[in-house]
Amino acid sequence: MNPVALPILITIDGPAASGKGTLARNLGAMYQLQWLDSGLIYRALAFELAEHSWGSLTAHEQYALLSRLKEPSVLDNPRLRLDAAAAHASRIAQDASLRQSLLPLQREMAYHPPPPLRGTIMDGRDIGTVVLPEAPYKIYLTADPTARAKRRNKELQKRGTSATLTSVLADIEQRDHNDRERTTAPLTKAENSIVIDSSQLSIQQMTQQACQKLQQKGLLKPRQR
Ligand code: DC
Repeated sequence: MNPVALPILITIDGPAASGKGTLARNLGAMYQLQWLDSGLIYRALAFELAEHSWGSLTAHEQYALLSRLKEPSVLDNPRLRLDAAAAHASRIAQDASLRQSLLPLQREMAYHPPPPLRGTIMDGRDIGTVVLPEAPYKIYLTADPTARAKRRNKELQKRGTSATLTSVLADIEQRDHNDRERTTAPLTKAENSIVIDSSQLSIQQMTQQACQKLQQKGLLKPRQR
């Protein structure tokens, strides 16, 4: 029997604004992997659930909603990038039944990278612990709350949104609380994770550190194969 060619799976978990998306994008390009942003899936769900709670939908409606999440246009909605969408996502993400229903979809997407991509890098809060606990490469990316708030504030200023550092920090601390203290799949470091604290690192330094540690665990870049 021929061995099955398994996709390469890398997970990145960590708190809001720790740099997960940037790291995932960079590593995805270097190792030829699709990037799945699970936070975006939660934001899209929150957007669709603006007027109804998950529990108030019939099983049929829940299935239809989950199917819509596979359409790229649903995840492309620029409104999902707003902080209000993130805050709403963090609230609906407390729902254990919703999280359970999302698992097959997330796993199916992770295991089917579009060719010629060699695998998937997926970031979120519970990817290494719950969604893809079998992944051979796991990263836990963190940074202190003030460093994260400063970065987030800079981004908001670039986009022309006016916010104060104090309000951005309060928002981040609220989301940390929601994400770490919920009973189902809280944000926590998976066993055997590569831990990177990005508080004092540039994007280049963070990416280099991750690459080095992934290579120590045996992950090779495509051209080295
Ligand atoms: O990664 P993000 O900031 O876009 O995520 C928005 C919210 O979605 C986050 O505060 C909590 C929730 N989320 C989650 O509970 N589990 C994930 N794997 C990803 C996001």
